[in-house]
Amino acid sequence: TRTPVNVTITGAAGQIGYALLFRIASGHLLGADVPVNLRLLEIPQGLKAAEGTAMELVDCAFPLLRDITITDKPAEAFDGANVALLVGARPRTAGMERGDLLQANGGIFGPQGKAINEHAADDIKVLVVGNPANTNALIAQRNAPDVPAERFTAMTRLDHNRAVGQLSLKTGALVSDIKRVTIWGNHSATQYPDIFQAEIAGKPAFEAIGSDQAWLENDFVPTVAKRGAAIIEARGASSAASAANAAIDHVYTWVNGTAEGDWTSMGVVSDGSYGVPAGLISSFPVTTKDGEFSIVQGLEISDFSRGRINASVQELTEERDAVQELGLI
Ligand code: NAI
Repeated sequence: TRTPVNVTITGAAGQIGYALLFRIASGHLLGADVPVNLRLLEIPQGLKAAEGTAMELVDCAFPLLRDITITDKPAEAFDGANVALLVGARPRTAGMERGDLLQANGGIFGPQGKAINEHAADDIKVLVVGNPANTNALIAQRNAPDVPAERFTAMTRLDHNRAVGQLSLKTGALVSDIKRVTIWGNHSATQYPDIFQAEIAGKPAFEAIGSDQAWLENDFVPTVAKRGAAIIEARGASSAASAANAAIDHVYTWVNGTAEGDWTSMGVVSDGSYGVPAGLISSFPVTTKDGEFSIVQGLEISDFSRGRINASVQELTEERDAVQELGLI
């Protein structure tokens, strides 16, 4: 039998945590034959709720679930971690400036990065979900100098899946027939969902949407980029099950590989590809194989796409400069 994989989840008592833990324990994160130990990190106020969720996990009698640890100490939560899902973050509240938001999150992701650096397993893979995800991932990564930078990733898979969902609605094509969609840049309203490399049921995606540039610019791009706000408006709470699903997809794809002829979108440390300044954590088209990803090279970027990518990367640069000024990285 296989040795269990240690999976750390921060913010485990939150709404994404609640949608995430049961699927991890039932084998959707890593595979149906991989046992897992869960390490739940919460702040003191969240411990009791995390314990309640752990009781329910026991009540599911999942064959793959080995043990569950619940703690408010990062050193304990990340001890021997193979996979870490950093979900807990400080949300923006009314009247909060960007600097305050980054400062508060620096106080979370800096210490967590340090704890990962000191305590995680050598093969640690980190996914940051908590917003601002790209910059929180950058803060954690810079605080973990002994861990290879490419092990720190930020989640844009929800945006990717949202784009695929919208294309399926528009064209009537099956989700499984939609390939090579890309999210570029920041997980924010400036992100750019790019269909110019994509294929829908064997045709270029742009053709499949009736070469409708107006729909693309005025409907598709803003719908994907502002979907989070639309969900809050409709549901009265932010995306939780879809966010948890995307986190599962992100890690599953990272570990188990992308399909031949397809790719996914991940926020990863730039190597300077496509003019994105090296070191920024920005979303790119990536293929994955044997637990490693590579940024897809050599794509032709139109002027339209270039403008959109640059605008989102500019925002990431400003966020990085702000956390640098605050001494967080
Ligand atoms: P939530 O507020 O329901 O849960 C957050 C949990 O994190 C709470 O239980 C809180 O006690 C805990 N927490 C706070 N600070 C912590 C710390 N230092 N260590 C451990 N736990 C801590 O929030 P929800 O809905 O689960 O969302 C979590 C984050 O995910 C938010 O930042 C949200 O903006 C982000 N998000 C990101 C998405 C993406 O696509 N990248 C999509 C949807 C949400």
